[in-house]
Amino acid sequence: MTSPSDTPSEGANGSGQAGRYYGRGIPYLPIGDYPGKLIAIEGTDGVGRSTQIQLLREWLEVKGYGVVETGWTRSPLMQPTIEIAKSSNTLNKLTFVLLYATDFADRLEKEIIPALRAGFVVLSDRYIFTALARAGVRGVDRLWLRNLYGFAIAPHMMFYLNIDVKTLIGRVLESRGMDFWESGMDLKHGDDIYDSFRAYQNRLLKEYSSMADEFHFRVVDARRSVDRIQDELRKNVAAFLEPPEKPAEPILPR
Ligand SMILES: Nc1ncnc2c1ncn2[C@@H]1O[C@H](COP(=O)(O)OP(=O)(O)O)[C@@H](O)[C@H]1O
Ligand SMILES: [Mg+2]
Repeated sequence: MTSPSDTPSEGANGSGQAGRYYGRGIPYLPIGDYPGKLIAIEGTDGVGRSTQIQLLREWLEVKGYGVVETGWTRSPLMQPTIEIAKSSNTLNKLTFVLLYATDFADRLEKEIIPALRAGFVVLSDRYIFTALARAGVRGVDRLWLRNLYGFAIAPHMMFYLNIDVKTLIGRVLESRGMDFWESGMDLKHGDDIYDSFRAYQNRLLKEYSSMADEFHFRVVDARRSVDRIQDELRKNVAAFLEPPEKPAEPILPR
């Protein structure tokens, strides 16, 4: 008799083994052992992901690692289409979900997997959880979303930059301001972009938090300074990439 845990899952869930497909994967692209490592940093809009990834990248390169960066909607195949889709708010929410999933699948196949096979450290600015969170707050079925993303690889390290909405608002107002999508204006919470940002980001943060246990996020307190956050990330990454060598067995006299 098989228990549920013996049955390979079709979709993304927390029982995914690091470095392997969560579920059925990309059927024509089996992945066995490969030398690279996939490190993903999740967090909401403006929390400071890109800042941290840039610093991690420089540090890893100085240490001699080859680093490849990948980020949401950056696939050459899908980026132009997604830009057009975002410039007007006329698409059905499921169509958006599928555009994002296609972007991710394209980057996985063309960038991430080849880089992992070649031994690179892949730093991913956002991962599937951004798609799950954004679609989740728009009412898309959560199980359906997890099944959809069964082709993704469970990262070796999955950091989540956690912040409260008040600190986030301060950070975003000081830097680039609030944009239509990051404020969830398509959800029509009201005409005021500030109120909409607060309501939408609150819901997104809840959605991310609800996935933290399920997917074993390493939760990092992102309310702190850039340097403090970076220190914590580096300590964790160093411990993972360069575990301390086991002390040699003492040689006992015969
Ligand atoms: N820990 C931090 N404390 C204060 N400001 C920060 C911090 N991290 C990033 N910032 C600032 O917040 C803004 C957004 O950061 P960014 O890294 O672009 O966010 P993201 O990539 O998550 O959207 C930038 O102006 C950046 O300088
Ligand atoms: Mg960024």
